[in-house]
Amino acid sequence: MPAIVRIVDLVKNYYLGGQTVHVLQGLNLSFDEGDFVALMGPSGSGKSTLLNVLGCLDRLTSGQYFLGDVDVSEMSDDQLSEVRSTYLGFIFQSYNLLPQYTVVENVELPLLYQGIKLDEATKSRCVALAELVGLGDRLDHRPLQLSGGQQQRVAIARSLVNDPHLILGDEPTGNLDTKTSVEIMQMLRELNRSGKTIIMVTHENDIAEWARRVVRLRDGRVESDVRNDTRTIAEMGR
Ligand SMILES: Nc1ncnc2c1ncn2[C@@H]1O[C@H](COP(=O)(O)OP(=O)(O)O)[C@@H](O)[C@H]1O
Ligand SMILES: [Mg+2]
Repeated sequence: MPAIVRIVDLVKNYYLGGQTVHVLQGLNLSFDEGDFVALMGPSGSGKSTLLNVLGCLDRLTSGQYFLGDVDVSEMSDDQLSEVRSTYLGFIFQSYNLLPQYTVVENVELPLLYQGIKLDEATKSRCVALAELVGLGDRLDHRPLQLSGGQQQRVAIARSLVNDPHLILGDEPTGNLDTKTSVEIMQMLRELNRSGKTIIMVTHENDIAEWARRVVRLRDGRVESDVRNDTRTIAEMGR
C-alpha cells in the first residue's frame, strides 16, 4: 500500500505573547492508504495540532508534509483549501453542524462552499449519504431535533460528500455515551473496510481499540506506534 500521508521532521510552534510554544517537535510518520489510525496521548500533547496540520487547517513551522506525492507545505492558501475540499473529510467532537439547516442541507454544505451547483443527481447523492448513516427518516430535521449520535452521523455523511481519500476525526465520540460511541465506531470501521483511510484523535483506549494502529504522542513527540491487529475474536465480531 502506498503512503497516503508522510510527514518528515514536522515541527509546529505557536508564538504567543513573545513566547515560542514548541508543540510538535520533529515528527516522522507515514500512514498507508486504507489504514485506520488512532492518535492518542495526554491532553496538550499535540494531537489536535497534528490533526489540524494534516487537515491543511494549519501550517507547519518546518519540515515536510506529503499528501500522496504532493508536498503540502509548498502550497498556497487557495491550493490548501482546494485540497481540503476535494481530498479530505472532517469529523469533529462537537459535530459542527449549522443549526438552521436540515440534515440533507448540512450534508450538502461542503459542495455549496465549493460553489458547486446542486443538480438533482447531487441532491439525491446527499440523500443517499444521509440514508447510509441511518437518517433516511430524518432528512428534514434540524440538528437540535436530533440526538448527539444522530448529529455525528450527519457530520459523517457530510464528511463523505466529496468522496474523500482521507477522513480526519478529532475525538469524534468525545461527546457521546458508550453505546452511541460504539455505533459511530462501527460506522467508521465500515467506511475503513470500504477503503477510506481514517486518522482519528481519541484519548480513550476503548475507542482506540477500533483502529488498526495506535500512535501515541507525548510532549510533541511520538512515544509509541503499534499495530492493533491483535484484537480478540470477540472484539473483532463487534
Ligand atoms: N493557537 C494556539 N496558540 C498557542 N498555543 C497553542 C495553540 N493551539 C494549541 N496550543 C498549545 O499547543 C499544545 C498542544 O495543544 P493540542 O494540540 O490542542 O493538544 P491535544 O489535542 O493533544 O490536547 C498545548 O500546550 C496548547 O496550549
Ligand atoms: Mg485536542
